[in-house]
Amino acid sequence: MRSRHPKALGFRCYPASHRSLTLVLWSLVALVVFVNFHLLIIHKEEETMSTHEIRRSIMRELEVVEKEKFRLAPPRSRRNPRAVRRKGEKKPPTIVDEFLDQSSAVHDMFFPELNTAVDPVNGGNDSMYFYYPGRIWLDTDGKPIQAHGGGVLYDKRSNTYFWYGENKDGKTYKVNSKGADRVSCTFRCYQHPFVVWDKPYLAVEALNSIVSPNVNDLCQTHKVDIIGVICYSSKDLWAWKNEGLVLHGEEKNVTHDLHKSNVLERPKLIYNDRTGKYVMWMHIDDANYTKASVGVAVSDSPTGPFTYLYSKRPHDCESRDMTIFKDDDGKAYLIYSSEDNSELHIGPLTDDYLDVTDVMRRLLIAQHREAPALFKHEGTYYMVTSGCTSWAPNTALAHAATSVMGPWETLGNPCVGGNEVFRSTTFFSQSTFVLPVPGLPGSFIFMADRWNPSDLRDSRYVWLPLTIGGVPDEAADYSFMFPLWSRVSIYWHKRWRLPEEWRDS
Ligand code: DGJ
Repeated sequence: MRSRHPKALGFRCYPASHRSLTLVLWSLVALVVFVNFHLLIIHKEEETMSTHEIRRSIMRELEVVEKEKFRLAPPRSRRNPRAVRRKGEKKPPTIVDEFLDQSSAVHDMFFPELNTAVDPVNGGNDSMYFYYPGRIWLDTDGKPIQAHGGGVLYDKRSNTYFWYGENKDGKTYKVNSKGADRVSCTFRCYQHPFVVWDKPYLAVEALNSIVSPNVNDLCQTHKVDIIGVICYSSKDLWAWKNEGLVLHGEEKNVTHDLHKSNVLERPKLIYNDRTGKYVMWMHIDDANYTKASVGVAVSDSPTGPFTYLYSKRPHDCESRDMTIFKDDDGKAYLIYSSEDNSELHIGPLTDDYLDVTDVMRRLLIAQHREAPALFKHEGTYYMVTSGCTSWAPNTALAHAATSVMGPWETLGNPCVGGNEVFRSTTFFSQSTFVLPVPGLPGSFIFMADRWNPSDLRDSRYVWLPLTIGGVPDEAADYSFMFPLWSRVSIYWHKRWRLPEEWRDS
């Protein structure tokens, strides 16, 4: 039977449904608040992204991946056909073997001749400010720059960049049949009025014109390695003026660390704001590479002369390839390859930067890394290192840490572009320094040496753009699904220059 009372239509305001209505309304409010909040976050992110993007967009053209297409001729067999028939074909030389072999066409490709040199004075407008990694680079006097294993100091007081490095302007010889190649300093073999201490190339030329062709034969008996630390100055990081030797090799005193028969490598400089001194640290060794020490020198001026203070084994440990790093808070650190180059050590310097403190941490243990180049970006410390293969190029690795004292984590090979061989040989070079480009945060110049072991003075410079961003290849550390580190990328370019905006700023 049907009820006489028709069923009420619509909502009934029973207490339970009232509660659910309130709940629905609150949920709606919460949703609106959440959506707005989310939109706000997205907007903020976009805003930060765009400022970041603007900052980086001027470097973007340098992040283009440039490929290299060079073809290799089939390797030449150096054995006579009868020996090959008897013993079978020998393993063909690798590309790195060919690169190191002065008689190979591959070698010539990577060490182009003087007529392709970067010449800031007479090079013409078309090539102005362009870096050509691997080409001879002339200073403002038209002489090849001699600043190997070096680094750059930006001097705020004079608003000038200073590039310091090893002057290797001498003939290359071997210490012994198995030993490393070293340079001998031809010009010092003679007492001659033309010999100018801080202009060795003038001296070499002068001597060659006088005693040629015997000059090199005579000088074979005067085997030396330390010519000294040379300094170049520049306002634009491209045209460099020779400021001469700022730390000289020692001529007579055979017991002196800087005696010409010893080894001085990888000089690096920082300025101490408290003492007002320019402090130079360098690798000091004997000809057999057994001293494994660091040396310290100091000066009131970036162009020297520097007074050599002493050498020591830091923390009583061997120290070979090294660098120094000055942090934003003014604290400075020494980083060096130790324990037979199997690991790196890092330790703070004293406040005057003239010594190490007792504190030391070991990093990248058993990884056999050298040629460290340390830099910092947005609170994270980064480092590029090479493997240990003497003068032969090998694969670079990038590392990162939230504290400069470590722990340090390896991010993988930073090299981008070129081709596989280029990437696995650090573009046929070895790291020496990473220079922050002032005014372009997150942009750096990666400085490396393309060593020419058969003629060390002809070693070349490979300067390339380095940026930080994206996901690293290797670092396993993730926090809440986000990788802890950003990728360090070094982009290969045959020819590149810093954006104009940088020079105008
Ligand atoms: C590799 C180092 O990085 C260079 O500075 C130099 O010491 C060579 N070894 C010598 O073989």
